[in-house]
Amino acid sequence: MSALVPRPRLGLAPGAVHVPGWLTPDQQRALVTACRSWAAGPVPIRRTRLPRGGLMSVQTVCLGWHWLPYRYSRTADDVNGARVAPFPEWLADLGRRALADAYEDESAGDGYAPDTALINFYDGQAKLGMHQDKDERSGAPVVSLSVGDTCVFRFGNTETRGRPYQDVELASGDLFVFGGPSRFAYHAVPKVYPGTGDPATGLASGRLNVTLRVTGLADPADRPGLTGPD
Ligand code: SIN
Ligand code: MN
Repeated sequence: MSALVPRPRLGLAPGAVHVPGWLTPDQQRALVTACRSWAAGPVPIRRTRLPRGGLMSVQTVCLGWHWLPYRYSRTADDVNGARVAPFPEWLADLGRRALADAYEDESAGDGYAPDTALINFYDGQAKLGMHQDKDERSGAPVVSLSVGDTCVFRFGNTETRGRPYQDVELASGDLFVFGGPSRFAYHAVPKVYPGTGDPATGLASGRLNVTLRVTGLADPADRPGLTGPD
């Protein structure tokens, strides 16, 4: 989206910050290219099946750890059993920069080491209901990057999935961070506006969202006492 009318950086609640237009056009293009390759495998992007049998409308592929309702696994146990693609260091660097900029504090990203990313693709009809990101065993912030069509992002409170909540529009290149007291706030994507993205990003239609998270999990082999003989 062009910055004809610049949208200001907005703190919605303690720890929750929206930074419009944070990714440059080049970074958006690079992210789309990377997401396209992750979507192809080793675990193909797909609609997640929920425990009651329904399919999510959003399509998802993961890095580092695979998310499935409602846990993380190194392998995509509900898709093809393959180990997910590794979490790249350049994406962790971007996450640290995101925290420094969102919190306007050069040290805010120090020590931030996201180990999973959920890449969500929304076609014109896709939505995401009110939920908390709570399958992580860490209170480290979630860093959210959006490319493509603009959506309504509903940001609620930590207690209930209802009001009070605030609706903001996330457009291509926007950063949203929720950490600190807002880390476990309910949030949703009730609407995507088809045709609002710039095809120059490489995304002809739809919306991509990448959330970086810290799982707080360790591989069994990383746990003391479970390692093999050395
Ligand atoms: C999510 O809640 O995990 C994704 C949010 C978004 O698509 O902006
Ligand atoms: Mn979420």
